[in-house]
Amino acid sequence: MEITKVVIPAAGLGTRFLPYTKTVPKEMLPILGKPAIHYSVEEAVNSGIEHVLFITNRSKALISNYFDSNTELDFFLQDKNKLADVKGINRLIKETHFSYIRQSEPLGLGHAILMAKPFVGKEYFGIALPDDIIINKRPSLDQLIRIARQERATVIAVQEVPHDHVTNYGIIRVKKQITPNLFHVESLVEKPSIKDAPSNLAIVGRYVVSHKIFASLEEISGYATQELQLTDALCHMLQHNEKVFAYKIEGTRYDVGTPRGWLKTVVDLGLQDPLHKEDILQLVQQHSNHFFLPETSGHKKLSI
Ligand code: G1P
Repeated sequence: MEITKVVIPAAGLGTRFLPYTKTVPKEMLPILGKPAIHYSVEEAVNSGIEHVLFITNRSKALISNYFDSNTELDFFLQDKNKLADVKGINRLIKETHFSYIRQSEPLGLGHAILMAKPFVGKEYFGIALPDDIIINKRPSLDQLIRIARQERATVIAVQEVPHDHVTNYGIIRVKKQITPNLFHVESLVEKPSIKDAPSNLAIVGRYVVSHKIFASLEEISGYATQELQLTDALCHMLQHNEKVFAYKIEGTRYDVGTPRGWLKTVVDLGLQDPLHKEDILQLVQQHSNHFFLPETSGHKKLSI
């Protein structure tokens, strides 16, 4: 089973990051020198993906500029012996074919995925939500591709979340646990209340899906009253005798879709990076001195 395509929905308005997102897409928020969306593309390419389709909108031109070569800059850097600064992004550009489809109205994740139908054809394909950055030795999409091949079926990535967080996620109901990490899914529900949640296994933004998802999306779009949800289409597939598996992926997940989550990602990943670790620790130390030294102690407060 060949899985060479991934769809990356990037058409959200990013209202949580206003006014920044008035001109810059939230997918371009910097995380240690790279835009957030770089991480999902890198994960996909490291999982053997060759074609990336971004679902964008009219204000996301910076994404296509980033994933395009800039020979003038490369010549300049070569001259200064600094080509290493763009080595990572240039590798992605060289190894990958990028396509773009615009979603003209924000009609939901399901609607964004449905726009990928002509790109995908009759294959299994990956979906990576760029708000989720997952750091692990073996890329998450690669973990899912292995299971999709093994089971010849749709697989979604899940992780356990605290019970009071289930309201933020798509949650699965397990039909059967096959191995400690692999589950046969009975049904799914998007952002349930705490009392209605069938488990605490939450979808974490990586999927490998049969092209049959498009028929389900088309069918449910007829009676969707609000945004078209991908989770509802997966449920529809299950009701029509398609198998769906959930795989508890290994790795640490960061949610860069909120200002707090983005900040946490920058600090956590910065602490793992020898280039930034000392600076972050020093800043935190200075701040704790600033907050905890009593004013009367004679110590001068440090200014950052
Ligand atoms: C989306 C999906 C949801 C999933 C989540 C993971 O929700 O609809 O099922 O659990 O991503 O990040 P969103 O966070 O875009 O509202």
